[in-house]
Order: sequence, then C-alpha cells, then structure tokens
Amino acid sequence: MDPARGKILDVGTFGLNQSHLPAHDAGPFDPRDLFASPKNLFEMEIGTGKGTFLVQQAVRQPDTNFLGIEWTAEFWRYAADRVRRRELSNIRVLHTDATELCRYWLPDEIATVIHLYFSDPWPKTRHNKRRVVQDETLRHFHRVLKPEGELRLVTDHVELWKWYQEHAERNANLFHIKPFLSPESAREGEMVGTNFERKFAREGRPFMAMTLVKRQAPMAARLSGQSAGKSVGNSAGNSSSIQPNPRSFSRLPDQSPL
Ligand SMILES: C[S@@+](CC[C@H](N)C(=O)[O-])C[C@H]1O[C@@H](n2cnc3c(N)ncnc32)[C@H](O)[C@@H]1O
Repeated sequence: MDPARGKILDVGTFGLNQSHLPAHDAGPFDPRDLFASPKNLFEMEIGTGKGTFLVQQAVRQPDTNFLGIEWTAEFWRYAADRVRRRELSNIRVLHTDATELCRYWLPDEIATVIHLYFSDPWPKTRHNKRRVVQDETLRHFHRVLKPEGELRLVTDHVELWKWYQEHAERNANLFHIKPFLSPESAREGEMVGTNFERKFAREGRPFMAMTLVKRQAPMAARLSGQSAGKSVGNSAGNSSSIQPNPRSFSRLPDQSPL
C-alpha cells in the first residue's frame, strides 16, 4: 500500500507520532496544546486516511483546531505531508490508535466534534471487536466530548450501520441521535466528501449517517446504570478522569480490516 506512489513525503511539524505522547505515568496528554491558539475549538477525526476531509474543512473553519488520528503509517504520512504543503496551521495528524489514545491519554471535555467516516467494518464476527465503535469507546468519546459535543458517523456498510444503531440504542443514556448534517466542505450530493466516499460513490453504494449528541452530565448521571434498550455497563455515564494505563499500544502495526 503506497498512497504516495513512490513520492518522498515530509510530515514536517504537522505529523506527530507516539514519541510525542507523554509517558503513561506523566498524566493526560492535551492535544490542544499542539496548536498556536490552544483555546480555539477542537475537533478530532478518527481514521483520517489521506486527510481529504481535514484539508477541505479546516480552511473553512480557521478558528477551529483539528487533530487527525491515523494508525496506518502510509496514510498518516500522506495526510501530514498534504497538511504541511498547504501550511494548514490548524491541523495536526497523529500516528496512533485512536481508541487507545482516547482510553489512556485524552483529558475530559476537550472536543466539540469527533468525526468517524467510513471506518473499517471488520465484517468477520471474530474481528468485530476491532471496530472503533464499542460500548467502551463510546464511554470514552462521551468523556472526551464537551457538553453537547457530537460524534458524527458515516458508513456505506450495512452491517456496521446496524452495529452503530445497536450501540446508539444501548448507550442512549450517554447520547441522543440527531440527523447528520453535511459539513460546508462537502460537494453537492456528498455526505462529507472523504476519499473513500468518493470512491464508493463511483461504485453506486448507498451511505448511512447519524450524529450522536452528548447528553448533559446530569442526564447521563441520572440514567447511568439503567437499562436503555439492552444492558448498560455500570461505568456508563461516569465522566470522571480515567488515568493512563501502563500498557503498550497493542494494535498499531497495520492490520487488514478485511
Ligand atoms: C476505510 S478508511 C477511511 C479513511 C477516511 N476516513 C475516508 O473516508 O476516506 C479507514 C481508516 O481508518 C484507519 N483506522 C482504523 N482504525 C483506526 C484506529 N483505531 N485509530 C486510527 N486510525 C484507524 C485506517 O487505517 C484507515 O486509514
């Protein structure tokens, strides 16, 4: 896999890797500090791929900082090089596993939006646990999002869509669903306009999308532990800080999702 087709890429100061993360016992890592204006609004994209959404949208939101998170080295390098060439100072691209980043490093209530577009479907049942959306990751997304913050999901994959719906229903104590609104950078007829979306659109695939909105803490606390559909883990709704865990990244080496 070589998205650069042999071209030499340079991530400059826009591409970061795990060496930029503090030691596990050094406390949380606040990615807002990577930017010249750390108090600006902050959004994250999980599975940035070639960075198409980020470079399109960041120019339209110059007062928002964006962190792209990508675990495949070739795509991370490609996206960060693209950001460097365009000198988009409100984007950084981090080479790591986003679920582990959320679980062990990110502080509470930092992001207004988490974007997750065309995430790997991992269709084999034994691989479903590798999907980004899980009950546990939803609890971390809830913690990392600011009040009323949004998790925006788009997929072309029917089974993954059902998975999203089930997870949204089961975690209704943490999030309510609202219709997905396309970002300003999407072209006519596009949901978002990511690289995969454009590829899949040429194949005529249908797309499904939803936005999960973080419930305010009192609501989440009140409903925590109650059954909202199926069973709810007893730590759901607990937005207290989760300390970094002294374990190493387990999934960073590229793994085929298929
Ligand atoms: C199917 S691609 C979609 C890329 C882009 N969002 C798009 O729509 O064009 C999914 C991307 O997510 C990345 N990815 C999957 N799980 C990830 C994780 N846990 N952390 C970071 N990146 C992940 C993969 O490496 C891959 O580049």
